[in-house]
Amino acid sequence: MRTIMVLNPKGGCGKSTIATNIASFYASKGKSVMIADFDPQGSSIDWLAARPDNVPEIEGIAAWKDGFKPPRNKDVLIMDVPAGVHGKDLTALIRRAQTVVIPVLPSPIDMRAAAKFVHEIHHVGKVEKNQVKLAVVANRVKENTLVFHMLEKFLKKLDIPFIGKLRDTQNYIRAAERGLGVFELAPSSVYQDMEQWASITRWLNSKRSMP
Ligand SMILES: Nc1ncnc2c1ncn2[C@@H]1O[C@H](COP(=O)(O)OP(=O)(O)OP(=O)(O)O)[C@@H](O)[C@H]1O
Ligand SMILES: [Mg+2]
Repeated sequence: MRTIMVLNPKGGCGKSTIATNIASFYASKGKSVMIADFDPQGSSIDWLAARPDNVPEIEGIAAWKDGFKPPRNKDVLIMDVPAGVHGKDLTALIRRAQTVVIPVLPSPIDMRAAAKFVHEIHHVGKVEKNQVKLAVVANRVKENTLVFHMLEKFLKKLDIPFIGKLRDTQNYIRAAERGLGVFELAPSSVYQDMEQWASITRWLNSKRSMP
């Protein structure tokens, strides 16, 4: 089973948005997908509750309250994780993942927080032993802004693959309220988003993303 966690202790950077979109990407490719939501906010579980019947099913587990056992019958497990996780809790969560995707927003506060987090995560045993692969994604990007160029420079300097950027668009909000991913919106309104996701999903489907 493929296990992908979306993780960054900084609140609001797009973890649930990216987790639900990765889940709907794999579901739209015919994979059997589960989302485990470790966040008592339950954003991914709420998203699933809004999901209509005419799109591929995704199973959800409210791992924050029901506990978590890895499913036996799924191709892909996506894990949505709360903000503010550090120390032992961080180590315990990372144990469950082959791949960790770290969204970062173009803002000085988020970049500084990300720098500290990247330092912390490199000291987690499983990361030190290269038993989990990390990647960063720039989220809510507005191209041609100074702060985005700062973020790009910052992410390129990290010794973690910078696998893609997602623009700031209402498409994510419109999709989220309907329990969909941007992959499931009308193609004419999301072609730019599809191009951006292609670079992320290409990496996720490559051997480079597997320990
Ligand atoms: N690329 C994007 N374009 C526009 N809005 C976005 C984008 N990514 C996320 N958002 C919005 O930003 C807000 C925060 O996103 P989200 O809930 O995914 O972050 P989070 O990291 O899961 O937050 P938390 O730390 O609270 O769990 C949401 O309102 C979401 O709809
Ligand atoms: Mg969230």
